[in-house]
Amino acid sequence: MDPRSLGLILVGLGGSVGTTVAAGLELLRSGLATRDGLPLASVRVGEADGLVPYESIVVAGWDITTDDLHKAAKRHAALGADLLQPVTEALEAITPWPALEVSDDTAGARSQVDRARDDIARFKRESGVDDVVVVQVASTEPPPDLRWLRTATLEELDAAIDGADVALSSSILYCYAALAEAAPFVNFTPNPSFEFPALLALAARNRVPLAGKDGKTGQTLLKTVLAPALRARSLRVDGWYSTNLLGNSDGAALADPEARKTKIETKSGVLDAILGYAVDDHVVDICFYRPRGDDKEAWDSIDVTGFLGARMQLKVNFLCRDSLLAAPLVIELGRLMELAQRQGRHGVQAQVGCYFKAPVPVGTESVEHAFDRQHAALERWLVESGLSLR
Ligand SMILES: NC(=O)c1ccc[n+]([C@@H]2O[C@H](COP(=O)([O-])OP(=O)(O)OC[C@H]3O[C@@H](n4cnc5c(N)ncnc54)[C@H](O)[C@@H]3O)[C@@H](O)[C@H]2O)c1
Repeated sequence: MDPRSLGLILVGLGGSVGTTVAAGLELLRSGLATRDGLPLASVRVGEADGLVPYESIVVAGWDITTDDLHKAAKRHAALGADLLQPVTEALEAITPWPALEVSDDTAGARSQVDRARDDIARFKRESGVDDVVVVQVASTEPPPDLRWLRTATLEELDAAIDGADVALSSSILYCYAALAEAAPFVNFTPNPSFEFPALLALAARNRVPLAGKDGKTGQTLLKTVLAPALRARSLRVDGWYSTNLLGNSDGAALADPEARKTKIETKSGVLDAILGYAVDDHVVDICFYRPRGDDKEAWDSIDVTGFLGARMQLKVNFLCRDSLLAAPLVIELGRLMELAQRQGRHGVQAQVGCYFKAPVPVGTESVEHAFDRQHAALERWLVESGLSLR
């Protein structure tokens, strides 16, 4: 058995996605879970150059609520009692570390960053894992005013963390802490993180691989599958109406119009980029509707024009399970980032862009949104790494 093991450190461990990751890994370890829905389940593991086995992944992380993970998972109700019961003890044994406290000014930001760094280093030492990857799965935040960070150098960011009078957000501080500890960082949320020159410089200095942002799990996945086909057949998209009905705590956070703005931004960008023209009537909406719980309903109504002006419509209704689509991607991203770091890769890992709604560009390169091309890039990397998806 390959001794290599991975610590998956989640920001927002007690959330619906975080607890589903933890429960899913425990169920896999106990042999009680099938591998359906895990995109890289067929890739070779356990040898010097393979991926880390699922059974060798240990979770930890921070949250505002410090309920143990069994209590938190029961509250989210993404997983039924049949799935939680066999892993009760394992989940009860995991309690999130207290979240960083970020006030409006940055006074004390350095001590918060240092605490997060200590948490990462202590976990690595005490759990005995070989490597760690940090994944941001905390609540979507209202967009903080980070205009100053767009041009700030690493020295200026350090000065800000040391107490200058500018705004910072918790997602930036977690990201900074991970990069300072040379831990690969994945941003699975639409929150800002490493896409600023100062953080990219820190990642380059410490040779850290990065991936993000905002997991592509449901509606946007299907949009980026369908749009390339419509383009290939010259079916002109006149309008694309997308709405989401969801009743979990992510939905509650997105009921705040400011937080919703952050999410709608990452969901809206993909269409024009794939089609090559602007769709004026591309409407994206998110509706907090409690009865739906974690069973998110994604509705798309698409109007297209074909040969001789023929008007047609397409309706897509994805009745999905939000956290059960997200958790396997978080697990796979952890394994892929561990591989990237082992290969000495650093900076933005464009080859994992198929997992994100708004992939962060590498330098001035344009971003690929079409799912087929994104997935081909991932396959190419794996094949070049001596691994194959089949
Ligand atoms: N399919 C999906 O579920 C999906 C897809 C893409 C992106 N996401 C994103 O993943 C994130 C998590 O989704 P979720 O359904 O688990 O939401 P959730 O509300 O259930 O969980 C978020 C958790 O983050 C914690 N948190 C908030 N601020 C924090 C902080 N500063 N530090 C540490 N913890 C903090 C909350 O207490 C909560 O437990 C959201 O931002 C969501 O938009 C989810």
